[in-house]
Amino acid sequence: MILWIKIIHIVAVISWMAGLLYLPRLFVYHSEKTSEEQLNATFKAMEYRLFRFIMSPAMMVVWITGLALFYSSGIQVWILLKIFLVFLMTLFHIFLKKCIKNFNEDNNKFSSKFFRFINEVPTTLMVFIVILVVLKPWL
Ligand code: HEM
Repeated sequence: MILWIKIIHIVAVISWMAGLLYLPRLFVYHSEKTSEEQLNATFKAMEYRLFRFIMSPAMMVVWITGLALFYSSGIQVWILLKIFLVFLMTLFHIFLKKCIKNFNEDNNKFSSKFFRFINEVPTTLMVFIVILVVLKPWL
């Protein structure tokens, strides 16, 4: 049973990460094309669907399966650190939602350079999270 929870956990992680890495990239190009009506509308639809139907459900499954795995393996330093990093990843997810709202209201203030820069945030967090879960330091 625990192995099936871990399988679902990893699949949900991959889906969530795909969105966290792709959505800021969409913002890079969208922020350069807001004056083109057709493209602006297309980007808005793509961003909303990616966030609403892939990223948000996947994030919830990551948290539910992650906490179930945590419950079965007990408190360990590496898991507490991991949960802290995933909490930061979740704050980033919420920030992306705010950006979607800004674009929808044609009120985006961030430059494409800014979105290129923040694209590195989920990558960096992901690397440290995977190091923690594979090496399990301070076990
Ligand atoms: C609140 C969120 C999370 C919690 C509480 C959590 C907790 C856990 C626990 C307890 C395990 C089992 C470790 C083992 O038995 O070896 C696990 C496996 C794993 N987690 Fe998470 N996790 C969370 C989110 C994430 C995220 C966001 C990622 C990636 C970015 C991730 C990547 C993995 C991977 C790759 C495994 C499989 C490791 C292995 O089998 O060696 N997890 N997680």
